[in-house]
Amino acid sequence: MSQYIGSTINELPSPAVLIEQEVLHRNIDEMAAHANRLGVALRPHWKTSKTNEVAKLQLAAGAIGHTVATAEEALALAGAGHPDIFWAYPPVGPHRVQTAIEVAKRTRLIVGPDSIESLRPLATSAAAAGIEIDVRLEIDTGVRRTGVHPDQAVQVALEMSALAGVRFEGVFMHEGHVQGVGADPELRQRTGEAAARLLVETAEAIRAAGVEVESVSVGSTAGVRSAPLIRGVTEARPGTYVYGDENQVSIGTVAPEDAAMTVLSRVISVERAQPVLIDAGIKAMSSDGSMHGDGRIGTVVSASGGIVSMGHEEHGFLHGSEGLSVGDVIRIRPNHACGLSNMHSRVFLVHNEVVVAEWPVLGRH
Ligand SMILES: Cc1ncc(COP(=O)(O)O)c(C=O)c1O
Repeated sequence: MSQYIGSTINELPSPAVLIEQEVLHRNIDEMAAHANRLGVALRPHWKTSKTNEVAKLQLAAGAIGHTVATAEEALALAGAGHPDIFWAYPPVGPHRVQTAIEVAKRTRLIVGPDSIESLRPLATSAAAAGIEIDVRLEIDTGVRRTGVHPDQAVQVALEMSALAGVRFEGVFMHEGHVQGVGADPELRQRTGEAAARLLVETAEAIRAAGVEVESVSVGSTAGVRSAPLIRGVTEARPGTYVYGDENQVSIGTVAPEDAAMTVLSRVISVERAQPVLIDAGIKAMSSDGSMHGDGRIGTVVSASGGIVSMGHEEHGFLHGSEGLSVGDVIRIRPNHACGLSNMHSRVFLVHNEVVVAEWPVLGRH
């Protein structure tokens, strides 16, 4: 048990990640209710929290399983006994192949390739191991990252469905470009709906070619109010919603009061009046970019205000704050919750500024 349970946040070592208990529970329940209202399954992306405790809370609220991005995350969730894992990433390279086989022997696993080349080695190994692994084909509906072009999807699905060792289970997309369009809610709505329509049409074309498509899965926090509304979508995979972050707040997809995650930091020097120097640099805040477009690495949400405009490894440069002295404690909202979790080995769950739990962050690189 953590030595910090019952301590006030001012007694914690800094920098430290704090998660507001009430907000976390509200976010989990609200998203489960949203998915339920829309009639889609909820499979949250676990990269945001990487804690067993959040994974359990999400399942208890009705999630059908989780999404992961890395081998370490898949192993951590399977090791903790979680039942249903979608590894939404091409299973490329011997370590990923080996990990997928290992995980699939313990729990239900779905993998997410976008080409036959990225699937063939895993299919061969799975067939040799006498198992069958579920496969979802990633479709690029506009994010321009991984994902097969919709025009080529039928051909790739036909080839995948003919492989031994795997079972073609469905299609998915990550509509990250919905976040990319920024703060205009109507444009976000149109972008998310158009992406989901393209995904559903692609699923229908694959079905028309004789391949069964069970799941049509969409996934993002910025797109969760648009993409899953399209008829034919069966599953949503938001991740960031669970903690929220400044990038979501800045475009209006998470309300400030629904952002559960902050970094606790201390003022270490006021030798120059501005900027004030704090103990949260890029190793505490991550160097994920800001959607404010001003290069900040964090936004102070405690009384002094200000933005962390720049970071060295263990030094943050705080501009625009007021009234701070050496030793003062501040709280900073990170640009990107998922990047931040991966920087830290633990998070502190807090209620009324008192620590109620310390959770290890699992499955880091
Ligand atoms: C494949 C996939 N699914 C779901 C998500 C969740 O998106 P968000 O963190 O915006 O909720 C991501 C995020 O990068 C992703 O890459």
